[in-house]
Amino acid sequence: MIIEKILVTGACGQLGNVLTSKLQEKWGTNNVIASDLRSLTDFNGVFETLDATDYDAMEALVIKHDITQIYHLAAILSAKGEKEPLDTWNVNMKTLLNVLEVSRLHKVKKVFYPSSIAVFGDKIERVNTSQSPNLTPTTVYGMSKVAGENWGNYYHHKYGLDIRSIRYPGIIGHQSLPGGGTTDYAVYIYHKAIKNEQFECFLKPKTFLPMIYIDDAVRATIEIMDAPKEKITIRTSYNISGMSISPEQMVTSIKNTYPDFKAVYNPDYRQNIADSWPMSIDDSAARTDWNWMPKYLLEDMTKEMIEKLKHKHSLKEIQL
Ligand code: NAD
Ligand code: SER
Repeated sequence: MIIEKILVTGACGQLGNVLTSKLQEKWGTNNVIASDLRSLTDFNGVFETLDATDYDAMEALVIKHDITQIYHLAAILSAKGEKEPLDTWNVNMKTLLNVLEVSRLHKVKKVFYPSSIAVFGDKIERVNTSQSPNLTPTTVYGMSKVAGENWGNYYHHKYGLDIRSIRYPGIIGHQSLPGGGTTDYAVYIYHKAIKNEQFECFLKPKTFLPMIYIDDAVRATIEIMDAPKEKITIRTSYNISGMSISPEQMVTSIKNTYPDFKAVYNPDYRQNIADSWPMSIDDSAARTDWNWMPKYLLEDMTKEMIEKLKHKHSLKEIQL
């Protein structure tokens, strides 16, 4: 087997945390270089502090570790992004352009770029949103992801870079906390439930959004990166779906374990963002091209989230 040397940017984030462990399992701990703006002292593996907006620092790391693949996760997400639009654009675009250039100039053969359901905007059919409608995002985060998808496509066609990308739905997992998105409520709701606390939701009860369980999100990432090159017919980004759920449905599902669980609803600026996103996603291209198939629906996910968080809570390992 050819051994790859992997660089992960934004490795301390909600997804990076879990994906990095999976990549370590697959490629060997010493072949995965986790990096982030934040520095970690107790990381199990190779960690480098990297501001991914700094091209020279990124290039030095790529040369030092002989990197052959980059998973570029560093970004500022939708809700946080609306507070600092220009900074968000700068961080999201500069980091990606650095990754693309360093890959073109060095031996990096494959790049993974995460896109998002935030690319769509309010001009779409919100149910079963298709792969290629007009993309008119309403957030700077969504704008940066649309531009990023197109830059990836450009580097593929112009320079032959093997870049692969997924438009993730909101990711829900027990291992890590989300970092400032519109879908974050769907993680925090479980943390409140296992502590028998009331949940205050920043979205309305019937706000349906596409979501995905972290195990499915990580598996999708590994599967698209492992797929034969000729199967990847879309070099902007693939729609993938997990489930389409609302806060109200999550509460009902949690009540199966915690019958007294209650939520109150105080929608804020994130409601407008959510209302401009799809309610559900047509992921037939991903299913056809690289056999994507989600495994988790709401009830399986709730069961697992509660079990894992309860266990962590009993060990006092919960971050909140
Ligand atoms: P997160 O906010 O939890 O983590 C992002 C990480 O990037 C953080 O650890 C942060 O310190 C780091 N970072 C920010 N600026 C940086 C910089 N200049 N240099 C280096 N590191 C920097 O995000 P996440 O949820 O883990 O998302 C990972 C990727 O997946 C992002 O690109 C995001 O857009 C995408 N995505 C996530 C979701 C989701 O629901 N979590 C959904 C769709 C797409
Ligand atoms: N979960 C992300 C967010 O809410 C979607 O990209 O920003």
